[in-house]
Amino acid sequence: MDRTEEITLIKEIIGLAEQKSAYLDASISHSPISRYCSPDRFERERAMIFRRKPTVAAHSSELAEPRAFLARDVMGLPVLLARDDSGQVRAFLNVCRHRGARLERETSGCKRVFTCPYHGWSWTNDGDLRAVPQEAQGFPDLPRSERGLRRLPAAEAHGFIWVIADPDAGGDLNVDNWLGGMAAELDWLALADHRIAVEETIEIAANWKVLVEGGIEAYHFRVAHAATIAPHFPDNLSTYQMFGSHMRSVLPRRTMTALGDTPEQEWSIRKDANLLYSLMPTTQMLVQQDHIVWINSTPLSEGQTRMRLATLVPADTPDTPQMQAHWEKNHKITHMTLREDFDLGEEIQAGFASRGNPSHLFGRFEGALNRFNLLVEELIAG
Ligand code: FES
Ligand SMILES: [Fe+2]
Repeated sequence: MDRTEEITLIKEIIGLAEQKSAYLDASISHSPISRYCSPDRFERERAMIFRRKPTVAAHSSELAEPRAFLARDVMGLPVLLARDDSGQVRAFLNVCRHRGARLERETSGCKRVFTCPYHGWSWTNDGDLRAVPQEAQGFPDLPRSERGLRRLPAAEAHGFIWVIADPDAGGDLNVDNWLGGMAAELDWLALADHRIAVEETIEIAANWKVLVEGGIEAYHFRVAHAATIAPHFPDNLSTYQMFGSHMRSVLPRRTMTALGDTPEQEWSIRKDANLLYSLMPTTQMLVQQDHIVWINSTPLSEGQTRMRLATLVPADTPDTPQMQAHWEKNHKITHMTLREDFDLGEEIQAGFASRGNPSHLFGRFEGALNRFNLLVEELIAG
């Protein structure tokens, strides 16, 4: 974000506060509940979005060293991420090419060769088949080049490792094509110069879109977050901006509405607002004053979502017990606040079976939710 835009965004918030107005779309909209609770719909989202679009698989700092690897679930696929000696990152299916055993059982480590725990076939970390026990007798004329690890399109950019979770996708992954104008925003956040200080993984019995929707309006703050963050935020005041399929939300603190009395050169959006970056489909970054909470979701079914919450902190902050306590305290506050959203999400999901509502209603100040859903509709339509 450049300085002109930063000032413009702050002025927009101050202006809305002065007018005592929320940020309004042209009209209300409806969201059919079949979007959130239909297995067929979920399968279409999996085929057209989760398995087709670039997705964040890891932070670069998790795979920092040459020969480092990570084995994790990416959009429901067992994936092996590996950095070679030259620093390049590759992604493979973590599936043995002999008879399908899970090739790497450890979740992280350093290796140049991966050896299958079943019969001992092995591959180098660039995916080439290296050795087959008793090959000459058992597998005469084995076409070795056809038995490399199944590769997924992968790239490292803006501090993250991105993957397309489809071994049939082929080709390269151009992250900046997918990010559009959001790429410059991620550069502004300097995510590559961060490390993970605290992390946790939780499963929530709610559709992934219900959980995204819970984060992109401030209408609920006063009521749902009365016991946590509400006192720090003005009632129902937030704005949003689109970057292709991605969204940035500005969630001002009360302090921002009083900035009109201070000189512009002292304004800082990160000091007086939370920014929420929602990268389609399932990565969100809640940018706070001195750290960023990175939320990576894996939709497991139409009613179940796994979420990893990681507090990213500037890599050059001292790694002392005092600082660690500070990050853990902040992570806990975010967790408590998000838990209020997640509990509501689970209750909403449980209510779908009642068929009490054919659709949900988005007010004019909940326009971001409509925009998000329309983008999802566009993607599943191809
Ligand atoms: S299944 Fe992996 S070596 Fe046989
Ligand atoms: Fe919330």
